[in-house]
Amino acid sequence: MRTLVVGGTGMLAGVVRALLDEGDEVFVLARRPMPFQHPRLHPLGADDTDANALQPGAFDRGVVWIHGTALEAPSQQVRGPCWHVLESAATNPARPGSQRRERFAALGNDDREVILGFVVEGNGSRWLTDEEISAGVLHALHHDLKRHVIGGVEPWSARP
Ligand SMILES: NC(=O)c1ccc[n+]([C@@H]2O[C@H](COP(=O)([O-])OP(=O)(O)OC[C@H]3O[C@@H](n4cnc5c(N)ncnc54)[C@H](OP(=O)(O)O)[C@@H]3O)[C@@H](O)[C@H]2O)c1
Repeated sequence: MRTLVVGGTGMLAGVVRALLDEGDEVFVLARRPMPFQHPRLHPLGADDTDANALQPGAFDRGVVWIHGTALEAPSQQVRGPCWHVLESAATNPARPGSQRRERFAALGNDDREVILGFVVEGNGSRWLTDEEISAGVLHALHHDLKRHVIGGVEPWSARP
């Protein structure tokens, strides 16, 4: 399995490690180097808006941290399922028709989404840890979930 991970140098590093343990060839698109090496780890040091960064070939599946401008570019190189990791703002009820949501809806049947929510605990709430994010993304991959919210996004007013 050739898996593309965008954001693998950050909060998705745990996803990279787990997929390597599971036997994948893992291609990490990021500007920084990975903090570790592995025979099946292939760093693609580039900005994700660089149209030439992914020319080496197609991927069987993808985990793509979506930030700012680049939505379609990396995922178009994935010929199988692609999990788009989105901030909780993607579910903001005050912005149901946000540009990002409309663009996502226009993508293909192989597209899936993972929403980074928050955790309500005690009298307050907090954002997710990197470990919770990676575990949640892996859960979505292992169960081929079309849509998965890590933590929760309701009530929206409870956001940290
Ligand atoms: N809901 C939650 O609980 C939760 C928790 C954590 C984060 N977040 C959200 O996630 C956002 C990012 O958090 P963070 O900065 O801590 O995440 P991060 O994972 O530490 O950094 C972002 C990742 O995206 C990559 N990246 C960024 N711009 C890129 C580009 N132009 N080309 C290629 N790769 C790029 C970075 O790699 P390089 O720098 O190596 O290129 C890095 O791997 C936050 O603003 C927050 O909204 C939400």
